[in-house]
Amino acid sequence: MGFVIAIDGPAAAGKGTLSRRIAKTYGFQHLDTGLTYRATAKALLDAGLPLDDEEVAERMARELHLGGLDRSVLSRHEIGEAASKIAVMPSVRRALVEAQQAFSRREPGTVLDGRDIGTVVCPDAPVKLYVTASSEVRAKRRFDEIIAGGGEADFGAIFADVKKRDERDMGRADSPLRPADDAHLLDTSEMSIEAAFQAAKSLIDAAL
Ligand code: C5P
Repeated sequence: MGFVIAIDGPAAAGKGTLSRRIAKTYGFQHLDTGLTYRATAKALLDAGLPLDDEEVAERMARELHLGGLDRSVLSRHEIGEAASKIAVMPSVRRALVEAQQAFSRREPGTVLDGRDIGTVVCPDAPVKLYVTASSEVRAKRRFDEIIAGGGEADFGAIFADVKKRDERDMGRADSPLRPADDAHLLDTSEMSIEAAFQAAKSLIDAAL
């Protein structure tokens, strides 16, 4: 059993950047669990299959291979929307959680980021972080990212989308987004990524 670092939080809170940096620093493998929901959703969309049939969605989830998940081909807005729809289905979650738990056993250690890592996927993880930021700050970061990439963005629409996703993630009956009782809270609203990383590093070093 490797050392597991569980990182949860809402969309666009900075989990991804932080997780990748932690994984690199400690030589651990990283799994962005949002990609498992996105890849399952994309497979359904590509096959022209419905998003509201739990049995069909579960079958797709069970066929997923963790190798080669790539955010750049899974980042489209409609894939994110479809992912959060199938993420409310208990049998889809069960299938993907099993794959995530198998990943978390890899040596020498792993970093998993998502919504339910500290609460459901790896409840025994020795380090749990809950990374958050205000919805305004998260929407602004997403907006800046799109503009920096040369795209066009509408702040109002992004802000509404962030809030809708939060509601869906926090309001679902199965594994809602919430901090584990023993998670360390990192509010990055007014914190640089460097400061967040240093805070995380101190917690990890103390637990290693
Ligand atoms: O993090 P990302 O935006 O890629 O996740 C896509 C969707 O997958 C989220 O909106 C959420 O509904 C779902 N998800 C989840 N549990 C996870 C990771 C993602 O329900 N551990």
